[in-house]
Amino acid sequence: MMGPIMAKQKIIYTCQQCGAQRPRWEGRCSDCGAWNSLVEESATQDSTPGRGWALGKNTHSSEKAHHLDEALPQANQTRVALGYPELDRLLGGGLVRGSYTLVGGDPGIGKSTLLLQLSGQLARLGLKIHYVSAEESVAQTALRAQRLQISSHEISVSSESRLEAILNRAQTDLPDVLIVDSIQTVYWHEIPSAPGSVSQVRECAGRLMVLAKNLGITVFVIGHVTKDGSLAGPRVLEHMVDTVLSFEGDSNYHFRMLRALKNRFGATNELAVFEMSSAGLQEVTNPSQFFLEEREGQQMGSAVFASIEGSRPILCEIQALVSSSPLAMPRRTTLGADSGRVQMILAVLDKYLHAETSRSDVYVNVVGGLKLQEPAADLATAAAILSSVHETPLSRRNCYIGELGLTGEVRAVTFAEERIKEALKLGFAKVFIPAANKKHVSQSIMSQIQLTFVESIRDLEKRSTPTRPKGQVNLNL
Ligand code: TYD
Ligand code: MG
Repeated sequence: MMGPIMAKQKIIYTCQQCGAQRPRWEGRCSDCGAWNSLVEESATQDSTPGRGWALGKNTHSSEKAHHLDEALPQANQTRVALGYPELDRLLGGGLVRGSYTLVGGDPGIGKSTLLLQLSGQLARLGLKIHYVSAEESVAQTALRAQRLQISSHEISVSSESRLEAILNRAQTDLPDVLIVDSIQTVYWHEIPSAPGSVSQVRECAGRLMVLAKNLGITVFVIGHVTKDGSLAGPRVLEHMVDTVLSFEGDSNYHFRMLRALKNRFGATNELAVFEMSSAGLQEVTNPSQFFLEEREGQQMGSAVFASIEGSRPILCEIQALVSSSPLAMPRRTTLGADSGRVQMILAVLDKYLHAETSRSDVYVNVVGGLKLQEPAADLATAAAILSSVHETPLSRRNCYIGELGLTGEVRAVTFAEERIKEALKLGFAKVFIPAANKKHVSQSIMSQIQLTFVESIRDLEKRSTPTRPKGQVNLNL
């Protein structure tokens, strides 16, 4: 009786968000909590646990163990400096040979353009590149390369979506760099599910990882992100690769940001900024200047904040508009700032400075499409809001750094000195920083720029009578 039952093809349900597998369909994935994400797939025979990925038929690795010190010369992964300072810094000092990188981003954000430009640069350095364009035809890719003024015999392009063919070709040609555009469009023929499904993405990514590690080929894969912003299929994929780069940007702005979300060879959360043009992406070497470019004169409701992205400071402008609201529940709209934190800042300002924002609409916007996550932006946000409430412009040469606590205290921030130095570099005259950071600032910095140490949010307003007409409040800003 066992025979026919065993022969029946087994059906499993795979969550398209986290890759969890279930014997039965569930409306909500019990692993990651995503709704309606389980998709029926037929389990292949060898999908039993313990199976490994291999390049050829021999699935059992006979690799012997090495002592760490013996392994050192082999593991000496050489870095190639790309000659793009921003990109080199992002990667932790250049591209590591044999590394495996995932570049994720929304469709149309510029991933193919970025990697084609990178190919051009690597070819100039004498490396051999194979660009697999599974999404576009070879002619389309060639036209794009022509537009970007990339032409080289070192770059070969194919429009192949069968991973087996891609791997075979890589093993015979042995390029230095293999680029797969994109992981969602290639497929492994032994897996019955459609390209882009979790099992396909995982299988293909795993086989590419073996290619990178066994043959020392540097592999880049492009991945699209889903609507909710995570890499499609995915967490499984993020574990496999050495580096995850996320390409971000707002389609309304002409700049793009590449962020290292994971990097086995460098610091995470590093950020490189690029400007889009008809000739491709150009590096922005001084992002602070870039983000403050359109800032003119003294403006009400505008304050400058020195943020830290990875290890580098970037100055940006925070704008606030507070206007009386006709609504019973006034609006609180934020762009680029955390709405929960803005609510908290408003509560603190109402409580300790009687800002009376409860009947006003409040809009907070971080100029340029930057997304601030740091609590250190609180003081700048508070200053911008106060400036709008009291209709008093702030000096355009001031910069604000500090985290607000619920008792109105201003708390210390990390990288205080780096932030101040960036403000100094861009010609700011005065920086408001938490008093608790005083010990982190060297004498030489103090002698170059005026620092105002703030202990509490109350320090932002000079004592004044409780009833005062707007525009006549003494802001200590
Ligand atoms: P593309 O690289 O195809 O995006 P993705 O691979 O992420 O889907 O770029 C989308 C479009 O934007 C494409 O028509 C080219 C254009 N583009 C420029 O004109 N200049 C640029 O600097 C970039 C990045 C893109
Ligand atoms: Mg593309």
